[in-house]
Amino acid sequence: MSKISIQPVGFACGARVTGIDVSKPLSAADLEAINKAWAKHLVLVFPGQTLDPHSLVGFTRNFGELDDYATQPFNRHPEINEVFVLTNKYTNGKPSKTYNAGQNWHTDLSYTLRPAKGTSVYCMEKPSVGGDTMFANMYMAYDTLSPKMKEFLDGLEAVHDASLIEGLDKRGPEVANEFRRLNPPVVHPAVRVHPDTGRKALYVNERVRTFLGLSEAESRPIVKFLCEHSVQPRFTYRHYWSIGDLVMWDNRCMVHLAVGDYDPSEIRHMIRTSGMGDYYGRYLDPEAAAAQMKSAPAASAAKPAADAKAVAALHD
Ligand code: SIN
Repeated sequence: MSKISIQPVGFACGARVTGIDVSKPLSAADLEAINKAWAKHLVLVFPGQTLDPHSLVGFTRNFGELDDYATQPFNRHPEINEVFVLTNKYTNGKPSKTYNAGQNWHTDLSYTLRPAKGTSVYCMEKPSVGGDTMFANMYMAYDTLSPKMKEFLDGLEAVHDASLIEGLDKRGPEVANEFRRLNPPVVHPAVRVHPDTGRKALYVNERVRTFLGLSEAESRPIVKFLCEHSVQPRFTYRHYWSIGDLVMWDNRCMVHLAVGDYDPSEIRHMIRTSGMGDYYGRYLDPEAAAAQMKSAPAASAAKPAADAKAVAALHD
């Protein structure tokens, strides 16, 4: 029998899961308990874990195939493509390419054809204060809209654009250009039905540029309204990290934000995996997308070995 205990930590979402060592193989009963808790609480915190990139992959593969981060090959683990390193550590005297990742409200990889199903982040080093992550429940965001607004959004499709990633250009022109080259704008429904719960969730975040059939000027205020509506404090949970926390969230019904509320001279170092989504979007302009992706990669992307060495040093 499973010894797992689940304690809610937020009203909108969030629960602590104790009584389990996730570095060990999971029993069927544990997996069932976690899946049930995940569907109910959307964000699960497993405190006090001891993981490395391999055991993070081992645990998170229990929930499905993992993304290999081909759409954002910056700061991947040098040996394991499925592990992404979120860090502000300098490598080779240069700022990390993920030092400011996730600093606008988003759902992971929504600017790709196959957005992430879930994401798991393990905290290895943290600043003395701050470096928090916030989550917002997009079922609640949808449920609390007026019937007319729901009707309007239900048939609508949104264009997600990687260019709208906050701070992308601060990571340097080579990274920003390569990010854009690999990620032409994609189209997803504005409201998605969760495949496990059957519930509708708003699927609009700060990386949406327009809605199909509406101009950019018409779309902008609607995107702004929906983004503000969906992250009201009552829909959120804020996670204050401790070293050894593994936090796993559902991207199909949540948005999240790396708050960036910490002293940048202190280290924040996390490793992450993302579950391959079970849903495919489409390119806004398939021909332009194909041509763009075939164009020459940015110079930095042509030298993965140098990068791999630098990231390897982080794990020594
Ligand atoms: C992410 O957006 O996946 C990372 C969140 C964080 O670093 O807090």
